[in-house]
Amino acid sequence: MSVKLTWYGHAAWGIEAGGYNLLIDPFFTDNPVATAKANEVKADFILVSHGHSDHVGDTVEIAGRTGATVVANFEVATWLANKGVKNTHAMHIGGAHDFPFGRVKLTVAHHGSMLPDGSYGGNPAGFLLTIEGKKIYFAGDTSLTYDMKWLADDGVDVALLPIGDNFTMGPEDAVKAARLIQPKVVIPMHYNTWPVIEQKAEDFCSMLGKECEAKCVVLKPGESYDL
Ligand code: NI
Ligand code: MN
Repeated sequence: MSVKLTWYGHAAWGIEAGGYNLLIDPFFTDNPVATAKANEVKADFILVSHGHSDHVGDTVEIAGRTGATVVANFEVATWLANKGVKNTHAMHIGGAHDFPFGRVKLTVAHHGSMLPDGSYGGNPAGFLLTIEGKKIYFAGDTSLTYDMKWLADDGVDVALLPIGDNFTMGPEDAVKAARLIQPKVVIPMHYNTWPVIEQKAEDFCSMLGKECEAKCVVLKPGESYDL
């Protein structure tokens, strides 16, 4: 069994595994680098890390079309239900739950979470996913935090880390995050969407290579990584 990760640009990911289609932070319509369209993507489950518009993205529209269950913190899940999303599953940081495709644990992210209409979005999160025996850590929008060191106990196969700086960790702190997490593979995200978060992924990878064992995988929007 394999797990296919597809980067749609920014923090938007697709995961295909075990016959399920997952989306994380499905930001397509207003995403200048997106390679997929909100009215075309498949989804059985949608994971939303926090309330910012570049993460909630097209969740309401996609959930309405597909009937996907949306997994998010309690505040974001409640807001989405009020926007007409029929199937929501509310969780909160530190909590884990077994879904048909695998296990989701909400992890600490230091950031904001205001929803697009100004509503309170609770605390932002990352996700530790266990799918087909593989561990995928999606950090979400966050600063470097020493809490990440606990993830080394989980045996993370792939860490999806923001490197854009300005709104999240920049490349130097993402390298430090990787040193704490000790994943097998790091894939950078949340960069090159707009000029303010432009980064050279190759520079990040060469820095990473000097500091830890993790393999650095750089995807272009639309590209996939199989694990
Ligand atoms: Ni954000
Ligand atoms: Mn963001």
